[in-house]
Amino acid sequence: MNFNEQMKEKVTYIESVIGAYMPQDCTFQKTIADAMNYTMSAGGKRIRPMLMKATFDLYGGDSKLVEPFMAAMEMIHTYSLIHDDLPALDNDDYRRGRKTAHIVYGEDMAILAGDGLLNYAFEVAGKAFDLLEKNSIPDDVAQLDNEKTLALVSELKMRRNVEWAMQILAHKPGIYGMIGGQVVDVELTGSKLNEEQLTYIYENKTGALIEASMMIGAVLAGAGTDGIEKIAKVAYNIGMAFQIQDDILDETSTFEELGKALHSDEKNGKVTYVGIHGLEESKQEVERLSREAITLLQSIEGDSSFLQELTEYLIDRKN
Ligand code: IPE
Ligand code: IPE
Ligand code: MG
Ligand code: MG
Ligand code: MG
Repeated sequence: MNFNEQMKEKVTYIESVIGAYMPQDCTFQKTIADAMNYTMSAGGKRIRPMLMKATFDLYGGDSKLVEPFMAAMEMIHTYSLIHDDLPALDNDDYRRGRKTAHIVYGEDMAILAGDGLLNYAFEVAGKAFDLLEKNSIPDDVAQLDNEKTLALVSELKMRRNVEWAMQILAHKPGIYGMIGGQVVDVELTGSKLNEEQLTYIYENKTGALIEASMMIGAVLAGAGTDGIEKIAKVAYNIGMAFQIQDDILDETSTFEELGKALHSDEKNGKVTYVGIHGLEESKQEVERLSREAITLLQSIEGDSSFLQELTEYLIDRKN
């Protein structure tokens, strides 16, 4: 199977996972389920769950525990897009090839759909606990034989990994991560930015969710601290490159390919990496960051070929 076929197959799998975890059975509040589903089902590259699963595979993960986290991450990302497009933020009318949620459902419902996705993401991620084995513990633990003790220890290890993944899922999208980056992005719109401020914005508004995705994949697969640190560095580079490429595409792509309006940054008076360094230097930086990520991936034991190819693909992505 070539890379494009692999990507297609992975997107189909990711969308089936997401579909299985979307809310059902809404009654009076049905509008919110519709509004949440509207942007969630519009497509999107599904890069974050893809990175999470590929990292999980790289570190030898072989359970279903990663699936609720894949769905949760895409929900959090989608909420961030719905809110990012609101008139009070970037005021954009198109997303994923469709009119934005606030255009279709109104600002009130778009705000609530974003809130709904963020909250539901944690409800979904929490379902990972239901997937853990639940070994019974006798009142007198001295009765535990070797086999039962080993089963309990293995359950405990998995449980700890899920708890750790939950902490990452709570931390990285928050004020020390994505929201922090969005705050500075919005607050400094129209101002001259220095390199340090720009880096802070990119590391957080975009980098944080990509880092969280890969770190959660590693944690759930039971990678050690070393492995998690390494993958966090890879993710940092991929995240920075991803946002610079997003800025490049805002200037150079077409609406048909991008599914969102071009020149949003210019319209809003945003200072971007491209605005400071120009297109050529920005492309070189995307390439440099990505090559460094690939070299780092090669230093990790295990089969990182898909992650390497994905990083390579993202250098020249058109949407
Ligand atoms: C867009 O993210 C917002 C950024 C962080 C740059 P994506 O480019 O991953 O958007 P979708 O999910 O494919 O729509
Ligand atoms: C978005 O950055 C980052 C988040 C949504 C958190 P942008 O504002 O550049 O993303 P697009 O271009 O609207 O997708
Ligand atoms: Mg924005
Ligand atoms: Mg935007
Ligand atoms: Mg953008």
